[in-house]
Amino acid sequence: MFRIWSILTGLLILGLIGMSSFYFIKKLEAAPLIEEPLPFSHKAHMAPKQHLKCTSCHPEAQTTPYAGIVKLWKCMQCHDVPQGKNPEEPLLKKYYKKGKEFHWVQVNRLPGDVYFSHAMHVTVAKIKCQHCHGQVQNQSKTITVPTAGKMTMFECIQCHEQKGARISCGVCHQ
Ligand code: HEC
Ligand code: HEC
Ligand code: HEC
Ligand code: HEC
Ligand code: HEC
Repeated sequence: MFRIWSILTGLLILGLIGMSSFYFIKKLEAAPLIEEPLPFSHKAHMAPKQHLKCTSCHPEAQTTPYAGIVKLWKCMQCHDVPQGKNPEEPLLKKYYKKGKEFHWVQVNRLPGDVYFSHAMHVTVAKIKCQHCHGQVQNQSKTITVPTAGKMTMFECIQCHEQKGARISCGVCHQ
């Protein structure tokens, strides 16, 4: 008797897990692809009077494969006092006080096995961000579509050939 009950309970639990993961997957499918946490204007931040460079907020692009985005404490150098009129701007300070970070969704992404290094291109080859990402300083809305136009294999190889960089398959496919 006891065995039958434990088997039945087991089946019931499995069923519940199955159902909830089904709904979870459904929900994932229904969610919009890209949802940034805040409205963000590159244009406002790149205005000459702000004295910011691309690498002020993406410093890792100079030294690591990833460009990354600075953490909130860096933004607080200005946002500790209110900036501009955007109703969501005060959220920065609120999050910072609570020790939270914004989770910025990564938009530009190469397929799984392709290797890319920012440091190699930004610091070693001295290629401007805009060459690959376009005129980001003119974007007044949060970036939700890929900015890197030069992301196809053809375009990577075309420049590698021009500049004498390596083009064997294993350089980019690992
Ligand atoms: C050098 C000063 C400075 C730094 C550093 C800075 N901001 Fe700003 N930010 C401003 C100013 C000035 C405005 C108001 C711009 C306007 O309204 O024209 C602003 C506006 C904003 C807004 C309101 C919407 C918008 O973009 O206009 C958000 C959100 C924001 N900043 C996020 C950030 C984040 C996130 C960081 C860090 C990654 C950051 N800021 C770093 C000066 C700065
Ligand atoms: C004040 C800080 C700040 C400055 C200065 C800044 N960025 Fe950003 N950048 C951000 C933040 C915050 C995001 C995430 C929000 C968004 O995507 O709009 C971002 C996103 C991006 C993305 C999209 C990343 C992805 O998910 O694929 C690119 C590309 C980018 N920045 C390039 C640049 C370039 C090029 C410059 C110089 C022209 C620059 N940024 C200057 C803060 C900054
Ligand atoms: C030679 C082309 C090229 C140059 C130059 C370049 N990028 Fe990128 N960037 C890319 C590619 C390709 C990706 C997608 C990388 C991936 O999926 O691994 C990317 C991704 C990003 C991302 C999102 C992912 C991450 O690594 O954090 C940010 C932010 C970014 N770039 C900012 C910059 C900034 C800022 C500069 C200049 C300092 C810059 N990039 C210069 C090609 C470039
Ligand atoms: C505008 C020119 C340009 C573009 C576009 C470009 N690269 Fe490069 N890349 C270079 C140069 C130049 C070097 C060599 C740097 C050096 O060693 O002096 C390099 C080096 C590399 C390396 C390191 C190679 C080694 O010998 O270790 C990899 C990996 C790489 N690139 C991948 C990519 C990928 C993937 C793309 C496309 C998403 C891309 N590159 C787009 C110019 C470019
Ligand atoms: C300079 C960098 C680079 C080199 C060298 C390179 N590739 Fe690619 N490859 C890429 C990038 C970036 C993509 C993804 C974008 C696209 O599909 O155009 C890609 C995509 C592919 C794909 C499509 C499948 C996928 O992963 O998305 C195949 C197949 C492929 N490459 C084969 C090769 C072969 C074979 C060689 C050598 C003859 C080679 N590649 C050399 C950068 C490179």
